[in-house]
Amino acid sequence: MRILGIETTCDETAAAVVERTSTGEGRILSNVVLSQVSEHAAFGGVVPEIAARAHVEALDHIISNAMAEAGCSFNAIDGVAAAAGPGLIGGVIVGLTTAKAIALVREKPLIAVNHLEAHALTARLTDSIAFPYCLFLASGGHTQIVAVRGVGDYVRLGTTVDDAIGEAFDKTAKLLGLGYPGGAVVESEAKSGDPSRFALPRPMLGKPNADFSLSGLKTALRLEAEKIAPISDQDVRDLCASFQQAVVDVVADRLRAGLKLFREHCGNPTALVAAGGVAANGAIRKVLHRLSFEGGTLLVAPPAELCTDNGAMIAWAGAERLALGLVDTLDTPPHARWPLSDLVARPAPAARKVV
Ligand code: KG4
Ligand code: ZN
Repeated sequence: MRILGIETTCDETAAAVVERTSTGEGRILSNVVLSQVSEHAAFGGVVPEIAARAHVEALDHIISNAMAEAGCSFNAIDGVAAAAGPGLIGGVIVGLTTAKAIALVREKPLIAVNHLEAHALTARLTDSIAFPYCLFLASGGHTQIVAVRGVGDYVRLGTTVDDAIGEAFDKTAKLLGLGYPGGAVVESEAKSGDPSRFALPRPMLGKPNADFSLSGLKTALRLEAEKIAPISDQDVRDLCASFQQAVVDVVADRLRAGLKLFREHCGNPTALVAAGGVAANGAIRKVLHRLSFEGGTLLVAPPAELCTDNGAMIAWAGAERLALGLVDTLDTPPHARWPLSDLVARPAPAARKVV
């Protein structure tokens, strides 16, 4: 089957066409992503109203490009999937309404995809892995360790009680005047910095649950920077390196706890899977390799362009759901908040209806 996928939950306008074979293998026919980063950079973060307007302006063209690149007409697709949340509600409305219009006019099934589920299932598109696996999702908006037991069947083992890891990277970058988004810049500054110069806290270390807390780390970094102000270029590098090392130590400890909880609840995972923009960080990838080696677990880290927000992951999640008969009606609402635990593994009779 071929599915068109639409992503508009944050600051990427994206559309893709993905094919799923009857045996469950995936192939990306097109994957078009337009980043709005330059429109938000001056504000130091995503401005929801600007994001929604930019999605309205770009989405039709992005969908046309994705269809053209896939060499596919609307008649040749088997369903239309859109991220229906969680995310910035203005953007979610744009993508979901567009998908509904296409589904209605072309008489195709609509699949309202949970953005987090799409991140969670991407490893099955890239690596065809079997359930159950342990997902580490770390982006600008989310930090979660999840047991992925099946489509629609998730157990959240850990989450952040305050900031997401990507958000902490972005706030660090902002504080040090490194611009937005900050993750990649902080990583590159950290490469020539001293990770042991500043004694930053490692929040939650040793706790038996698998939760994260990042806001204390960010505050500690600010206090260290204020103590030595005005800061030199080398100070910036040392602060970045010390911050990143603290995050790496926290990730290692929290994932160890998460994998332990996973084994207690679901047995051995088929893989440890990384997703989200933060998974592009080399130091974090290194620690994921170490953990998977320690536990004799396969590590699946999809390429960076599939870890960050994109349409292919939405199309793939749509295909996985459609293959199980999980489709949605045209009155499906957009969601600003939509925890994975609210999803269901089996369709309710009413939700089976194909529009
Ligand atoms: O998944 P994503 O593209 O968008 C969502 O937030 O959903 O993730 C973006 C986040 C940003 O916070 C960005 O700073 C962070 O991922 N990020 C990184 C790196 N590249 C992107 N964080 C740390 N190191 C990186 N190399
Ligand atoms: Zn995302």
